[in-house]
Amino acid sequence: MKPDLKIGIVGLGTVGAGLVRLLQTHGGKIESRAGRKINIVAVHAKNKAKNRGVDLSAYEWVDDPLSLAHRPDIDVVVELVGGDEGIAKQLVERALSSKKHVVTANKSLLSKHGMALARAAEEAGVDLRYEAAVAGGIPIIKSIREGFAGNDISVVYGILNGTCNYILTEMRETGRDFADVLKEAQEKGYAEADPTFDVDGIDAAHKLSILCALAFGAQIAFDAIDVSGIRTITSKDIQFADELGYRIKLVGIGKSNGGVIEQSLEPCLVPISSALGNVEGVFNAVCVEGDFIDRSMLEGRGAGAGPTASAVVADIIDIARGYSSPVLGVPAKDLKPNKPMPDKDIISEQYLHLVVRDQPGVIADVTAILRDHAISIESMLQRGRDPGQPVSVVIMTHDCSRADIRAAAAKIGALGSIVAKPTILRVLPL
Ligand SMILES: NC(=O)c1ccc[n+]([C@@H]2O[C@H](COP(=O)([O-])OP(=O)(O)OC[C@H]3O[C@@H](n4cnc5c(N)ncnc54)[C@H](OP(=O)(O)O)[C@@H]3O)[C@@H](O)[C@H]2O)c1
Repeated sequence: MKPDLKIGIVGLGTVGAGLVRLLQTHGGKIESRAGRKINIVAVHAKNKAKNRGVDLSAYEWVDDPLSLAHRPDIDVVVELVGGDEGIAKQLVERALSSKKHVVTANKSLLSKHGMALARAAEEAGVDLRYEAAVAGGIPIIKSIREGFAGNDISVVYGILNGTCNYILTEMRETGRDFADVLKEAQEKGYAEADPTFDVDGIDAAHKLSILCALAFGAQIAFDAIDVSGIRTITSKDIQFADELGYRIKLVGIGKSNGGVIEQSLEPCLVPISSALGNVEGVFNAVCVEGDFIDRSMLEGRGAGAGPTASAVVADIIDIARGYSSPVLGVPAKDLKPNKPMPDKDIISEQYLHLVVRDQPGVIADVTAILRDHAISIESMLQRGRDPGQPVSVVIMTHDCSRADIRAAAAKIGALGSIVAKPTILRVLPL
């Protein structure tokens, strides 16, 4: 039996305390699977006095978290603080430069500094692992890095934020509006007091940037992602989508084509009959399309103490077994520049929801603008008739470019008869 693998944990919140609980619950199983004992040597969080619901008495409490990066009796530093600067960044950088393996769940850190950290890990000859950073309990990092490593991956897409999926599911099931459901989600602890990162798509975009780098062998490029969240989705949109045979999901989409990469994070219409359309509540799902696998989809809980701790432990077991791989699947120095796909080349059907004043000639003006942008209409829905008052009109288009639909929507929105900013949603033909 190899010597114990000695770990130091910084951050004992949802994930950190979950990790301690998991290691305490399944210590024996993990030892036999890893081929050695995983031994928590030292821990740190901000507040030593806080009750975390787990027994920490067997572990040394350190007052200086950065000291773990240099201690000779620690093999792996586990960073579970969060944030892309401050203590999390300093700890990871110092641990790597001291030739310690690092396990983290920190997608914002990786999305912003992942390239430099990957280079630092590879130069130091240690592992930087982050399974928990994307889609929680779903082993999507390992699947892409190892399971699908023989493929040319052309597409990766999925539901990457459980809070948004919960809100959209509740809106559909109860007919309530976004603000109302968000408030309830905050009360239940499914959404943060400041929900910006989740509902504006930033958290999911962090994850998408990591997935795209891994899937396409490209550099992480968070700033190249076209991000929109779910704040503008109304219960009417959800009803219309349902009537048309779709569900609205916040989807991260990565596509690689001829050396350019599309990275989009946006609410989309997905068919009710599709696997993704049936991923409900707090669940996440990720689909990968590769030339030899066709399509593969994994679904599971994307957050929470249990699933996230499970992913952290999987990384620790890999390190204990001595498995090693480049951080992003290929050596960081060989990752290709991430060249963004221009909007004119991002083609899909579109859903256009207009709130128009019910008066003669409005639809003629709208269709003239669509015609001028070479956008053809597949179908049109209008609910209600109320002369002079605002009514909803939904137009489904045939394939058109993102550049054209955005330009057309801007012109339509400027018409005097349009009373609200048009909603454009991409339709995914899954
Ligand atoms: N929660 C999830 O479901 C989930 C899922 C996937 C990934 N993640 C990622 O996992 C990481 C941790 O998330 P979490 O939900 O566990 O967060 P959390 O519950 O807020 O826990 C954060 C921990 O970090 C400690 N901490 C904060 N600032 C610190 C500082 N300056 N110095 C030392 N310790 C500090 C806190 O100490 P105190 O406890 O003393 O305040 C707390 O123990 C984040 O990167 C997050 O994005 C979380």
